[in-house]
Amino acid sequence: MLIDGFGRKVDYLRVSVTERCNFRCQYCMPEKPFSWVPKENLLSYEDLFKFIKVSIDEGIKKVRITGGEPLLREDLDKFIKMVFDYKNDIDLALTTNGFLLSSIAKKLKEAGLKRINISLDTLNKDRAKQIAQKDVLDKVLEGIEEASKVGLKVKINCVPIKGINDIDIVEVLEFCKSKAYVIRFIEFMENNHAKAGAKGLNSDEILKVISKKYPNFVKVPRDTSSPAQYYRFEDGYEFGIIEPHKDDFCSSCNRIRLTAEGFLIPCLYFEDAMSIKDAVRNNRIDEAVNILKKVLENKPEKNKWSSKSDNEISTRAFYQTGG
Ligand code: GTP
Ligand code: 5AD
Ligand code: SF4
Repeated sequence: MLIDGFGRKVDYLRVSVTERCNFRCQYCMPEKPFSWVPKENLLSYEDLFKFIKVSIDEGIKKVRITGGEPLLREDLDKFIKMVFDYKNDIDLALTTNGFLLSSIAKKLKEAGLKRINISLDTLNKDRAKQIAQKDVLDKVLEGIEEASKVGLKVKINCVPIKGINDIDIVEVLEFCKSKAYVIRFIEFMENNHAKAGAKGLNSDEILKVISKKYPNFVKVPRDTSSPAQYYRFEDGYEFGIIEPHKDDFCSSCNRIRLTAEGFLIPCLYFEDAMSIKDAVRNNRIDEAVNILKKVLENKPEKNKWSSKSDNEISTRAFYQTGG
């Protein structure tokens, strides 16, 4: 079992397979061109898998593949199958922007993927284009539809940004409800890659928008294995809000992140990271486990967004940390 320095059980590993992305979401990436980490710096699937295996042996029960956009990396289905074949009862999930999903969803499911989380910030074509800085909506909707059709459990993530898609919250919620997808609204986490001046809605503001049209919902007791606080309508449908600015958000955090370059990151908002790259490339697996334990010891009690100051801005964006 893996326990961090504050006694939290860590059983969830997020593995980023690339920082590259085919979108430029305003809340995640700079508008101006920038250079990616060179490909030779990335860990191979074999090396990532060595670390996943030993993490599972140490107590990891849930593995989520992330990016950047993970579907940009070739043969992702083969990588998923490697993990599934090692331990088929692992909760094996993927987070994607959905753009390349429709043609590969079936292969991913057949490889052993169980669940998929897809970003959908609006159902308006122009605003989707404004956020991702590319015409994305039709392909994303196709991807979501196909994933659901092949039997993957679909969750939708939506990041409401003031003045852009805050007017779309109810429509996205109604869409997800009609399709029986789980929806989570995520508070924007300030970072210095995002568009200057971008402001997210906080959970109270999101609830206010929803309650104008649907006033009857109740708070569901918090499931500590999930980052979301859920609310239930009278007909039983639940929606979630991920609220990293709340003081107690991190108290049940169960996760650790591995980047595509082999850095282990203990928290989305944390400046230090340790690399397992040399250890796994040279088959020094015990050393990789020691690094993992050291990172767990240093996992912070709280992210900095939850402090009372409004000025906490992470130097890392989600495309780098794996979200
Ligand atoms: P499930 O396994 O379906 O619960 O997914 P997930 O919420 O773990 O994964 P997903 O990739 O959909 O992540 C949703 C978002 O939740 C992340 O991108 C973050 O915005 C937020 N989140 C998840 N974990 C943390 C965390 O440890 N700290 C903070 N601040 N936010 C987190
Ligand atoms: N704040 C909140 N959510 C973000 N995401 C990406 N960047 C941010 C941010 N700065 C969301 C994406 C995706 C999920 C993994 O994280 O929309 O759904
Ligand atoms: Fe790409 Fe996801 Fe960042 Fe959007 S939020 S730019 S889809 S990594």
